[in-house]
This record gives sequence, C-alpha cells and structure tokens, in this order.
Amino acid sequence: MSLIPPFSPAPATPRTLWRSALRKRLRVRQVKMTASAINRLSYLPGIPRLLRGLKTFPLTRAPFRVTQGYMRIFPSLADAERAIAPFAEGGHQSEANVELHLAANEYPRPSDYPALFYLEPLLTTARRLFDLGGNVGNLFYCYSRYLEFPPGFQWQVFDLPVNMARGRLLAAERQARQLTFADRWSDASGADILLASGCLHYFPRALPAMIAELQPLPRHVLINRTPLTDGAPIATIQDAGRFRVACMLYNRQQLVAAFDQLGYALEAFWSVPEVSLVIPAYPEHSIPAYSGLLFRLVHP
Ligand SMILES: C[S@@+](CC[C@H](N)C(=O)[O-])C[C@H]1O[C@@H](n2cnc3c(N)ncnc32)[C@H](O)[C@@H]1O
Repeated sequence: MSLIPPFSPAPATPRTLWRSALRKRLRVRQVKMTASAINRLSYLPGIPRLLRGLKTFPLTRAPFRVTQGYMRIFPSLADAERAIAPFAEGGHQSEANVELHLAANEYPRPSDYPALFYLEPLLTTARRLFDLGGNVGNLFYCYSRYLEFPPGFQWQVFDLPVNMARGRLLAAERQARQLTFADRWSDASGADILLASGCLHYFPRALPAMIAELQPLPRHVLINRTPLTDGAPIATIQDAGRFRVACMLYNRQQLVAAFDQLGYALEAFWSVPEVSLVIPAYPEHSIPAYSGLLFRLVHP
C-alpha cells in the first residue's frame, strides 16, 4: 500500500483561471515586444553581432531563449507545435482564421495571378481539383470569378474538420454547387490538379511523401505561398495576430528532388512578393519571399 496520497490538482476557480489567462496575455505581449524590438534594432550596426553573441554565448543562451519565447527556430514541427500550444488561440481552427482567409481573398493577391495563369489551360480538360488546406473554399470563391470551370467540374477542398464544417455551411448558403469537401487525404488520388496553396508548411511530412501514398498520382501539383529555404529544414512560429501556428520551412532543392523521384517535372516557379517570414534574431533562416511551383507528372 502506498503511503503517498495520489496527487490531485487544486480545482480551477474563476480567480485562478483569470490569473492564468492574464499571465498568458502578458507573456504574449512580452514575446511580441521582444520580437519587434529585435527586428527594428537588427538594422543598426553592431546589433546582428550582439544578437549572435546572445544566442551562442553559454551564459546568455538560455536567458535569451526564454526572453524570445516561442518566436524562434525549432528542430521539428512537433517541437514548434508544443511551444506554441498554450498561446495558439485556436491556431488553424480559430474563427479568425476563416475570417482572415475570406477577407484576404475577396480579391486576388499578387501570388494568385501566377496560379490563375497556370490553372487556366489545365482546367480545359480537368474534372477535379483537390484543394489541400483549402480552408472554407476561399480560393474557389475567388478563382471562380476569373476561371471558367468545365461542365461537371468539381473543386474539392480538404482541410481540418472544423474548417470544412464551416465551409459546408457557407457553400450551402452561397449555393456553390461545384465546391465539395473531401473526407480524407486519400481522396486526392487521381485528381487532375492538386492545389496546395499556403499550406505545405503546416504538414509534418513533406508534400511529396504524402503524394507518394496516392494512387493514381495527381497529374499536376500547384504549390503556392509557401516559405522554402535554401538551408536546412527548420520549424518556426507564424503570429497572425489573433492566432498563432507552427510551420515548417522545407528545403527547396530537396522538395524538387523528391517530386522528381515521384515522376514529376518542375514546369514553373515564381516568387511570392507579398508574403515573407522574419524570424527575430535568425536572419539566416528568415524568408524574404515565399515561393510558388508547378509540377507535371511525366512518368506516371
Ligand atoms: C494559410 S491557409 C491557406 C488557405 C488557402 N489555401 C489560401 O491559399 O488562401 C492554410 C490552411 O491549411 C489548413 N491546414 C493546416 N494544417 C492542416 C492539416 N493538418 N490538414 C488539413 N489542413 C490543414 C489550415 O486549416 C488553413 O485553412
């Protein structure tokens, strides 16, 4: 028989809940202020060197990391997700995420133009586009104003369950008959076009590894708005203001090589000037412009 009574945490009272919410808010504010100060001061002579010293000197490394909080780099997406979990405010599934995407794509953004340009000729013979990370269908609503979909064409969104549930309601409200929602990733098998816009960096496995599971493989893969690095893959945090998410910076050459191994040829690539990712105190890992790429299956 154990002499130590089992640990039972004190029940949460309104007071303790309020205190913990306040602590969280203060921590988020402090992390934001630190990030903003680092970003502003980084332009001054001598500051990058000082930051390098703070990050690497054994005595300052740990306190500097604590001060930076979650706004730094992580070895894996899982590590970044763990660090941001208490501060994510719903992350991808927050209501704000849906509002943000519908508002952002009321009109095309600069990076939507290359996507529209490359999609138009593909659509003449396409029957199904699989929109991975398609949120509530924001790109369907935006692109359908500029593209002509052939008869019987289906734009199929796959996202997190909460976002797809919201998307189904919106589609019914807007009577969007060509917009449907997939049940699982494997539904992307045999799609004419796989669209991965603004989402490749949220998956713990690189997209080619996910595509390798599909049978038959999608004929075209259009990737847009993703932060690719020329260095080693790392994870970090994106702060969208009202919510926060972890993301992965995949290596561009490794990504292209993995698509090549699957039988895809790189048809086009473009820079996404309107989206960058600044990681405070890590200029070597920051991404000045996101990327877009189009792959075509040449060896099915
Ligand atoms: C930045 S939004 C992109 C929305 C849209 N495709 C665009 O380009 O405007 C990223 C989307 O990826 C979705 N996402 C993140 N992790 C996901 C996962 N594990 N499975 C499916 N969707 C995911 C999010 O819910 C969100 O809707």
